[in-house]
Amino acid sequence: MNQSLSTVEGNQWKRIRSSLTPTFSTAKLRQMTYIMDRCAQNASSALDRKIGANGGVFNSKAIFSRLSLDIICSAAFSTEVNSQDDTEKEPEMARQTKNLFNMSFFSPMILMCFIYPPFERVLEFFNYSILAKEPLHYFRAVFQHVIYERMTTPKSQTRRVDLMQLMLDNEISAKEAKSNKLEKGMDRNEILGNSMLMILAGFENTGNALSFLAYNLAQHPQVQKKVQEEVDETYAKKGEFDYEAITEMKYLEMCVNETLRIYNPILRNTRICGSQTTINGFTIPRGVTINIPTFALSHDPEYWDEPDLFKPERMSDMTQIDPMVY
Ligand code: HEM
Repeated sequence: MNQSLSTVEGNQWKRIRSSLTPTFSTAKLRQMTYIMDRCAQNASSALDRKIGANGGVFNSKAIFSRLSLDIICSAAFSTEVNSQDDTEKEPEMARQTKNLFNMSFFSPMILMCFIYPPFERVLEFFNYSILAKEPLHYFRAVFQHVIYERMTTPKSQTRRVDLMQLMLDNEISAKEAKSNKLEKGMDRNEILGNSMLMILAGFENTGNALSFLAYNLAQHPQVQKKVQEEVDETYAKKGEFDYEAITEMKYLEMCVNETLRIYNPILRNTRICGSQTTINGFTIPRGVTINIPTFALSHDPEYWDEPDLFKPERMSDMTQIDPMVY
């Protein structure tokens, strides 16, 4: 994981980032819509089952996190998980993903990193991971197996171009990676670390965002009704939820954006200053860690009227919102 985008810096970050960015192009996302649609249908059936069995009560985080896991595994690694199917036994991948986050934010190590971010370097030095090791080993074995299959299957038989294939097509040697001369490509360790990052980054954030969205809609039935009308109208017009249909649902997007404002995915953003910089007469020396208080900015009454209230209307024109605030 110390070779993943969220940890590496400078040229290495740039090289890995430009290797991964093409996965998220509009064309690629368009191709993935049918995968999302199929996984969403599984989630919908699971929701029906749970509601039927428990008198309307269901654990939204579990449903939405599994939905994200299914989509990521299918879109990034062409691996079908169907983690919603827990009728007999919870699928191993879903169990291991859940275990990854089996940690307490009150653990002294995590608290220290939060209060004093450079402490992460001390943990790194002692090879200490705040993530559980068993699932990390499990996923490394899964990714290695997927890579082995790709290497031994003729290209003509590969089902589709996914994130893993994109990384393997651009694979470079460890020596080339170390030389820091190339602008694109990843070595094997970087491929493994960033595969894990995709699961970590996609699973928790997306599961949380969707759960909070559902919560906000449940708390505001009039908003929920409006969203439903928009969804119904779009479906009646298009007959399916393809990429265009999804981008056309503006009110739904406003609700997502407002949910992400109230329930920030991260409390603060961290950057390390790469070279001495002066902004508005304020000089930031090289090496200084900058913490951007994302949560505080999203709740500051100077920028938001009644900041704690869920008001999707304030997201109707994103050009009016300062991107340094949201
Ligand atoms: C609603 C869903 C999501 C939210 C709210 C979210 C939010 C975020 C945030 C706040 C960051 C930190 C950005 C920064 O430091 O500037 C981040 C980074 C990242 N996210 Fe997401 N994310 C979501 C879904 C996903 C998914 C589905 C994936 C991949 C499948 C993903 C992959 C990443 C990666 C790779 C990074 C690191 C980028 C870098 O350092 O260059 N995220 N995300």
